[in-house]
Amino acid sequence: MALRNIVIFGDPILRKVCRSVVIFDDHLAVLLDDMAETMHSADGCGLAAPQVGLLKRVCIVDVSDEDGVIEMINPIIIEKKGHQEEGEGCLSIPGEYGTTKRPMVVTVRANNRKGETFTISGSGLKARAFCHEIDHLDGILYTDRLTKKNK
Ligand code: CO
Repeated sequence: MALRNIVIFGDPILRKVCRSVVIFDDHLAVLLDDMAETMHSADGCGLAAPQVGLLKRVCIVDVSDEDGVIEMINPIIIEKKGHQEEGEGCLSIPGEYGTTKRPMVVTVRANNRKGETFTISGSGLKARAFCHEIDHLDGILYTDRLTKKNK
């Protein structure tokens, strides 16, 4: 495993739409392992491939619960319930925080690293993290969704 450099706000790659993953090989496994190491090292609870410079529909979330690192490839949100308005930050926008509106409960369908399809639901912080990371795959940052900025 290796740490990857985290792309910082202002880099145009953070605004691009990522491509679907069609090949589930060792390169993908290495990327996922590296992303987890990079996320943990930066004390984050999520990371998306464009944040390490790759335009692939790959993201991970770890909210320190029993699921550990959740790897989501080609994720889509298939259900949203309720609303929450909470603080959010991003490893690509260091030192800043803001408040966004997100669904309270989110269900995601994605592929795992073997290419198998799974669904996973999360509420609260986990739902926010799912939305935040999946937004990254479409070039959307939490700052696009601010209801309040609290630096
Ligand atoms: Co982010």
